[in-house]
Amino acid sequence: MTTLTISCKPLTKSAESQVDFGAELHGLNMEELTDDDFAILHKALYEHQVVVVKNQQNLSPKAQYELTRRFDPSAGVYSHGKSIDKRSVLHRDLTTIPRQPQVQVIGHGFVKEYEGLTNLQLRHPHHKAFHKHPIPEDEDEGFTHFYRWHIDSAMYDLDPPLATSLLAVQVPKGRRQICRYDDESGTKLDVPLGTTAFFSGYRLFELLSEEEKHFVRTSKVEYAPHPYIWMSKAKSRSNGLGIVSEGLELSEEELPPFEDEKVKIYPMAWKNPVTGRLAMMVYPTCVRKIHLEDGSILDNLSEIRERLYRLQRRAIDPQYVYTHDWEEGDLVLFNNHGVMHSIVGSFKDGVEVRLFRQCNMAGSRPPLGPEDIL
Ligand SMILES: [Fe+2]
Repeated sequence: MTTLTISCKPLTKSAESQVDFGAELHGLNMEELTDDDFAILHKALYEHQVVVVKNQQNLSPKAQYELTRRFDPSAGVYSHGKSIDKRSVLHRDLTTIPRQPQVQVIGHGFVKEYEGLTNLQLRHPHHKAFHKHPIPEDEDEGFTHFYRWHIDSAMYDLDPPLATSLLAVQVPKGRRQICRYDDESGTKLDVPLGTTAFFSGYRLFELLSEEEKHFVRTSKVEYAPHPYIWMSKAKSRSNGLGIVSEGLELSEEELPPFEDEKVKIYPMAWKNPVTGRLAMMVYPTCVRKIHLEDGSILDNLSEIRERLYRLQRRAIDPQYVYTHDWEEGDLVLFNNHGVMHSIVGSFKDGVEVRLFRQCNMAGSRPPLGPEDIL
């Protein structure tokens, strides 16, 4: 049996940090996890939400897939399904590994050969393509935005993956950027280049007032059909936490055909299957309606967004945000039903090359709600 020690030291080192999630695991052989090892890893994921395992450069795509799948053995298809519509905002950002199609290659820059793929031209999503007020071109090297706070999920037809794994294969080094919120707070956060930022939905729920908790515990969110196509012309707030309401969403007639029974309606509070804690988990970009406790439905999009924004904004205050400082070989697993995350940063074209592998599969079940019994 593997000798396993779990270091639960905070992943964020700054004195101001109040991040209460994240753990680094040592001593695991990720290629050959025993059932006992996996039980420890599973418990760690649901207690710490984000788990970092260092020095996994040699982890095969197959092992990454099998590891990720172990968190949800009945899961099968990639989180966004077999093919992504060209109109979807996700279409440009994903490349599949031929011999392990559940594993995606993501990153930035030119890669001659990797895992059977040749002449890859990867592109890190840049906020200028999605934000209403991007950082001006001449400040782009030093400053950036959170791209989009999200839950990995199609939010239509398929359920959100339980866990996502990210492996850093190649990481450009030595540079940091300032992530500007460019919102009412004027916050500026010093971040590692190309960080992945996380906040905890559990912490967010704890930060709510009793009245807000009641609302979140008893309300449901209805997501738009084909949400990434629906919002493909809309623009994000500068802090990445939802859309500026300008009426740019596609009408139902403009969308591909959809079926009402595939539209997702989820609780706002998702229960941790191990600890029973509640997380406020709402993907603001894709929200279409709110279903209230009394059965009434709110469908004024700009009002809904404002209401959710007021609830969620506190979660991205810098003291609650963990920004992972990627090193080559880092394997990060996260509880996709308990934390939300964002891509951050912009790389210098032709100079800074980043190569990552990502794996997640649509969940075999919807998120657990407040009423679900463990
Ligand atoms: Fe993601």
